[in-house]
Amino acid sequence: MSSDAPSYPVRPFTDEEAPAFAAQLDFGFHENPPQEAHDLWQGLLPRERSVAAFDGDELVSTGGDFPFELTVPGGVTVPAGGVTMITVKATHRRRGILTAMMRHQMHGWHERGDAPVGILLASEPAIYGRFGYALGVQHLSLTVPRGDNGLSAVAGSDKFRMRMVDPLEGYERCQEVVEANRLGRPGMMPRVGDGWRDAALADWEFARDGAGPLRCVLAEDADGTTVGFARYRVKEGYNNPARPECKVRVKDVYGRDLASYVAMWRFLCDLDLTSEVQAEVPADDPLTFLLADFRQAVPRLQDMLYVRIVDVDRALAARRYATAVDVVFELSDPFCPWNTGRWRLRGDADGAECSRTTDPADLVLGPRELGAAYLGGFSLGALGRAGRIEELRAGALAQASRAFVSDVAPFVPFGF
Ligand SMILES: CC(C)(COP(=O)(O)OP(=O)(O)OC[C@H]1O[C@@H](n2cnc3c(N)ncnc32)[C@H](O)[C@@H]1OP(=O)(O)O)[C@@H](O)C(=O)NCCC(=O)NCCS
Repeated sequence: MSSDAPSYPVRPFTDEEAPAFAAQLDFGFHENPPQEAHDLWQGLLPRERSVAAFDGDELVSTGGDFPFELTVPGGVTVPAGGVTMITVKATHRRRGILTAMMRHQMHGWHERGDAPVGILLASEPAIYGRFGYALGVQHLSLTVPRGDNGLSAVAGSDKFRMRMVDPLEGYERCQEVVEANRLGRPGMMPRVGDGWRDAALADWEFARDGAGPLRCVLAEDADGTTVGFARYRVKEGYNNPARPECKVRVKDVYGRDLASYVAMWRFLCDLDLTSEVQAEVPADDPLTFLLADFRQAVPRLQDMLYVRIVDVDRALAARRYATAVDVVFELSDPFCPWNTGRWRLRGDADGAECSRTTDPADLVLGPRELGAAYLGGFSLGALGRAGRIEELRAGALAQASRAFVSDVAPFVPFGF
């Protein structure tokens, strides 16, 4: 933005401005949700973490971030700002308003010290790279055909009792299964409180893409413990005179172990009158190895979570490392200048520290390279081979790459 361009002050919105904030969201995303959807999402957003820009009295942008606890490699968590509701009024685009909101947000996290990492789901991947966000998590999108190409049983997967429940009635039991998975997979986050429960179970017609209501099935073991669950919708399909072709759209599917996870999938793949099951799963999901004909599942990698390292020292010290690492890197970060400089990272599977140093650098990289590798979904080595990291000490890149890797692919459990 040039210095003589009009400026648009950026701040949290007030109660009186809530309707204008909601109206701009509808306008920006071309959606028409019911008022209760706005009430729910505005209620989840701590008001001081909301952000809007103003042209005089007119609210011309929306945004905010949710305070999340993000699982990172090593089974530990780090506070993360979950960026949400980003829009700029069509009449005010390309005047630097998104840039101002991004700056307000990242400077706020840094000054308050409450989010060393920012995360978001991007409507368009090209938007956020300039602010230091990088793709850090991919999901595998699968469309599994019903029938012979399906999923074989594994030991124990047929021993559970399957039970349909009202999604609200079953929610707490489902949450226990998610909790059992949470620290084992980078990218997971807890849903804390009634508001996040209501968001998980929201069933507004505008967001169903023509599918039916949300269903919930539980798997229980012999003593009644819930060991797996799936929440899904079915989109009806009776236009083919030869056969019914209803389509199962999975929202959540979890098991406490492989047998219970496979039990859920076998249930979903065998619903009468359906022709396919569509779901997003982790990139290393067991289905990759268990489906009889993986190609028929039309696997597609989907860009999912974008990660911004906001406070490099706190963010890198918060995670664990697969192998011992001791590396000095030179970071250039004009958008978050407090990160610029030389840092020494020392860490292993038990802990890590990252602090400023005057020692010579082993690697030269930017915040996007660290963001891409942070959750273990992409390797530093691959980024180096793509010309994104400069290695100044032979062997440093390979050492850092081995350390940053996660044995378990990251996964984002819900949209926000
Ligand atoms: C995306 C959006 C928020 C951008 O807001 P904006 O105020 O126009 O952005 P800025 O003026 O700060 O743009 C900063 C830079 O990003 C670029 N940019 C903005 N939107 C972009 C897009 N969709 N694709 C590629 N580049 C984009 C601008 O061209 C500008 O580049 P420059 O610095 O080289 O000039 C706005 O277009 C919008 O509301 N889109 C619809 C809703 C949406 O997609 N929201 C994102 C949800 S994750």
